[in-house]
Amino acid sequence: MKIIDIHSHFFPKTWPDLQAKFGGDDWPWLKHLPNNGESFDKAMLMKGAQEFRPIYSACWDAQVRLAQLDEQGVEQQIISATPILFAYEKPIEEALYCAQLFNDAALEICQQGQGRLFALAQVPLQDIDAACKEASRAMNTGHVGIQIGNHVGEKNMDDEGVLTFLQHCADEGIPVFVHPWDMMAAERTKNYMMGWTVGMPAESQLSIVSMILGGGFDRVSQSLKICFAHGGGSFAFLLGRLENAWLHRDIARGKSEQPPSFYLDRFFLDTAVFDHDALDLLVKKVGTAKLMFGTDYPFPLGEQQMGQLIKTSQTLTKTEQQQLLANNAEQFFNLPISV
Ligand code: CO
Repeated sequence: MKIIDIHSHFFPKTWPDLQAKFGGDDWPWLKHLPNNGESFDKAMLMKGAQEFRPIYSACWDAQVRLAQLDEQGVEQQIISATPILFAYEKPIEEALYCAQLFNDAALEICQQGQGRLFALAQVPLQDIDAACKEASRAMNTGHVGIQIGNHVGEKNMDDEGVLTFLQHCADEGIPVFVHPWDMMAAERTKNYMMGWTVGMPAESQLSIVSMILGGGFDRVSQSLKICFAHGGGSFAFLLGRLENAWLHRDIARGKSEQPPSFYLDRFFLDTAVFDHDALDLLVKKVGTAKLMFGTDYPFPLGEQQMGQLIKTSQTLTKTEQQQLLANNAEQFFNLPISV
């Protein structure tokens, strides 16, 4: 069965010292660590002086990545930046510099990928004109879509500027992948990685809900191709609650012309949910045509046995499994179809 992973991340091996270039003490950088005979080179991802996360060479070395994809039977993979590289909170010149720097670096990794790696670009979403321009530039240089963070500071997905950006993507046929980041309730989720296990799913839910209730899906063309990460977070499980509120409380309707369940055919979700019951629920809610295999590789919170959740599903037919594992992604991202 052909497998395409649409949700994976990269870091370039090195990049210019952003703190030296722009000032400020919270820029991301990689502290490469000595290799004491381990199979992979390792690095500590730093945010200023703070240790953020240990990573290893699959992030920057296409050969290491391809070897692991071979082991796991994954044919193609789409790589995207990790949200720590977005720089949405920085001045536009600095964010645009980062976007172009990391977008070009992503393509360099893909060029080592023997035609099996593709990239999503980042854009400086705090400035809509610049974001639209960078999205178009990136697509022209070889990216297959754009990844955006699910909010820009206080601005949710129904923000006027974000909707303008999404319409630009719809007009140009640019696929958009929405990744949660900069998680809510940071103070109360700082222990036990709860920012990732609780905050991120809540962020994704908030994004889809704000798109619906903010009238985003009513306003942006139906041609928009948009996919939310991590199965849409807590959205599917709590859709009934949202629907009930919409039906029985006028202030819960927002600007949406229709009840929330009406918009379920307007977006895609990846399948990084790690649980067959959760996957079954997504299939029931959005259908097999709207789900795409994604892992969050190469991070520990990603699917370690890539593709197993779908391949061992007792409820999906083989044809449906193939749809989720590759066919939907080929169409969504206009990937070259290999035989
Ligand atoms: Co991710």
